[in-house]
Amino acid sequence: MPELKNITTLPGDGIGPEVMAQGVALLKALASPLDMQFEFSEDLVGGACLREFNIPIREKTYTKCKQSDAVLLGAVGSPEYDNNPSHLRPEKALLGLRAELGVYCNLRPAQLYNILIDASPLKKEFIAGLDLMVVRELCGGLYFGNPSGIENTENGRIGTSTMTYGEQEIRRIAIKAFELAGLRRGKVTSVDKANVLAVSQLWRAVVEEVAGDFPEIELEHMLVDNCAMQLVRYPKQFDIILTENMFGDILSDEASQLTGSIGMLPSASLGAGTPLYEPVHGTAPDIAGQDKANPIAMINSVAMLLHYSFERPQAAKIISNAVEDVLQQGYHTGDIQIEGKLVGTKELGERIIEETLKNL
Ligand code: IPM
Ligand code: MG
Repeated sequence: MPELKNITTLPGDGIGPEVMAQGVALLKALASPLDMQFEFSEDLVGGACLREFNIPIREKTYTKCKQSDAVLLGAVGSPEYDNNPSHLRPEKALLGLRAELGVYCNLRPAQLYNILIDASPLKKEFIAGLDLMVVRELCGGLYFGNPSGIENTENGRIGTSTMTYGEQEIRRIAIKAFELAGLRRGKVTSVDKANVLAVSQLWRAVVEEVAGDFPEIELEHMLVDNCAMQLVRYPKQFDIILTENMFGDILSDEASQLTGSIGMLPSASLGAGTPLYEPVHGTAPDIAGQDKANPIAMINSVAMLLHYSFERPQAAKIISNAVEDVLQQGYHTGDIQIEGKLVGTKELGERIIEETLKNL
């Protein structure tokens, strides 16, 4: 009997549905060769759900996600809701999902494919062989802290967001980062703002405590402003960047650009509940619905899903090699600056699937 897995797919907004179609096509193509069976259940989130139900995500969607083996998400966000209050913005669906699923550990690998070396804004010698992973805390910090809101006072409006971390929250993500470093090059750079923020001072202290249990891992602390600079100065110094939610949001976009295009980068969000996989990129409304989006971030997200949730690391590797092979053959979408043949989302996806199947 093939192993059965239930996957909830949430295409979302903008280019989300187009890239999702390629992710699902890849999984369907892989099912039989991997002796697996995938059951997909699609649902609305973000602007797509607001349009239909006036809320960014429904309770029953949370329930369905929790009962699945994995959730695959496209992208959420839509300019038409830019003036909505927070609870009625498309992004709320994503934040709600992360909280409901308890996926506090967000892995964002930034790896340079050799063929894209000229697409990177950095000089070749600084970027060749880049392979780092941002481990971003995803369920705490400024995104979820209390108090939060805008209040009217005698002196005008006051906006507040709070960065809070309990030591348990810091410890569990730090442990994940150290464990991962053990499977990589053995170095953790913990990023904070401990010269100013009390919350960062606790972060640093707890990370130090965790480091005591991992004597084989090298730990360094780095201030977030310095880290932003080091990423464009000499990014190859990094193996794992461990950081809190907001810093991780910013630094992972910066890291992604080093690889030539944000359209390449996948992510996995892991924790206590159902894992969530999604491209790091957004909805790209300017190219939505035009078959121009790069499907590679989604395809790499499927590879991470197979690796981290379905125990098929070999298949994940084959997908990642297929991506590289197809790029090497010159096929690319418009966001990737290389010589060769410009193709659409669908064709690039199909070529990668074909190449993957050849090597399984
Ligand atoms: C990301 C995105 C989200 C975030 C937005 C869409 C809420 O930028 O996943 O990096 O800030 O976490
Ligand atoms: Mg972001």
